[in-house]
Amino acid sequence: MAKLTVKDIDFKGKTVLLRADFNVPQDANLNITDDTRIQATLPTIKYILGQGVKKLILMSHLGRPDGQIVAKYSLKPVAMRLKELLAQDVLFLSDCVGENIKKEIDSSKEKVVLLENLRFHAEEEANDAGFARQLASLADVFVNDAFGTAHRAHASTEGVTHFLKSAAGFLLEKEIQYLGNAVQNPAKPFMVILGGAKVSDKIGMIENLLPKADAIIVGGGMAYTFLKAQGKQIGNSKLEKDKLDLAKSILEQAKSLKKEIILPIDNLVVDKIEANAKTEIVGEEIPEGKIAVDIGPKTIKLFEDKLKSAKTIVWNGPLGIFEMDAFSQGTREVANFVSNLKATTIIGGGDTAAAIVKFKLESKMTHISTGGGASLEYLEGKTLPGVAALSDRTEGRGLASDSQSHK
Ligand code: 3PG
Repeated sequence: MAKLTVKDIDFKGKTVLLRADFNVPQDANLNITDDTRIQATLPTIKYILGQGVKKLILMSHLGRPDGQIVAKYSLKPVAMRLKELLAQDVLFLSDCVGENIKKEIDSSKEKVVLLENLRFHAEEEANDAGFARQLASLADVFVNDAFGTAHRAHASTEGVTHFLKSAAGFLLEKEIQYLGNAVQNPAKPFMVILGGAKVSDKIGMIENLLPKADAIIVGGGMAYTFLKAQGKQIGNSKLEKDKLDLAKSILEQAKSLKKEIILPIDNLVVDKIEANAKTEIVGEEIPEGKIAVDIGPKTIKLFEDKLKSAKTIVWNGPLGIFEMDAFSQGTREVANFVSNLKATTIIGGGDTAAAIVKFKLESKMTHISTGGGASLEYLEGKTLPGVAALSDRTEGRGLASDSQSHK
């Protein structure tokens, strides 16, 4: 079922409630260290402001304060950054619901309002209907641009849609189009790069993408459970013992589907995971006591050979402990290589996006998702409640919302 988008809404004279994902990283002094998520919502904010609205009320969560007021999770720094980016005043309110908040909004001279962290109320994550109704009572229409939170059925993402006409913002639409197209209708060869620490985090994605992809390239900590499942020595490298049978059955399944799962053939190993640890390159078999922290040069070459003919690449999870410079070469070199291909390159959010930003390759990728958990769940083929809850379009084409339709 197609969903309404902002282009379908007549905003003139209306008060608009916009759910964004302003869950941005901050340093110890609460300076925002990466404002990608704020920047990514600007096209929707600017478009709505250009439509003659009465007021635009922005809302988001920040961190996981678990229903408590926690000063370090205040959205105030976000209000300040928004003011700079929009070059216009933003009224920041100390709460998100209640009569006083309503009054402050009504009497404010500022057109743009940012509410305080929704998760200071436990009712937000509980998707409490009364809380959702209170949020909805602030406005005439709801827009969801929070792709990063679309996998959460919370009051501000799902609950509120029961009370207001609800449309997707440009960011949400763009994310669903890129991620949806990549799995529904990928130009072939379609290659998937998976990394990160745990097989358990990626099972759903492997199961959903194995039948569609031409090959799955595996690096990062999760590769060692697969290598162990093949009977290889992995020393003290990351192992999920309880996932060994699953890894074996995935390898079997790949064989029967005639799909390749490509694993590291050499590795960078250390005795201890420390920034200045002595490193060594070993082959596929990892000696006793050694811990693999990155893929080796032969593996980099192997991965690049496999990727060079790809027309579509989806990448989720780093190939080593890239946060430590000494162990970042595999992720860095493969990222560089991928960024120079003519393929459509889709980067999952979270750690993978952080790696691409660290290597300054953002502008060379087709799409970098702003959602970590959300992009993972979408690529697993799951329905995202924040998208499914938006109002259906009755005619023409809109946002294809139901992730199950991309299966
Ligand atoms: C994220 O950073 O992935 C989103 O903002 C969702 O946050 P959450 O995992 O705390 O719900």
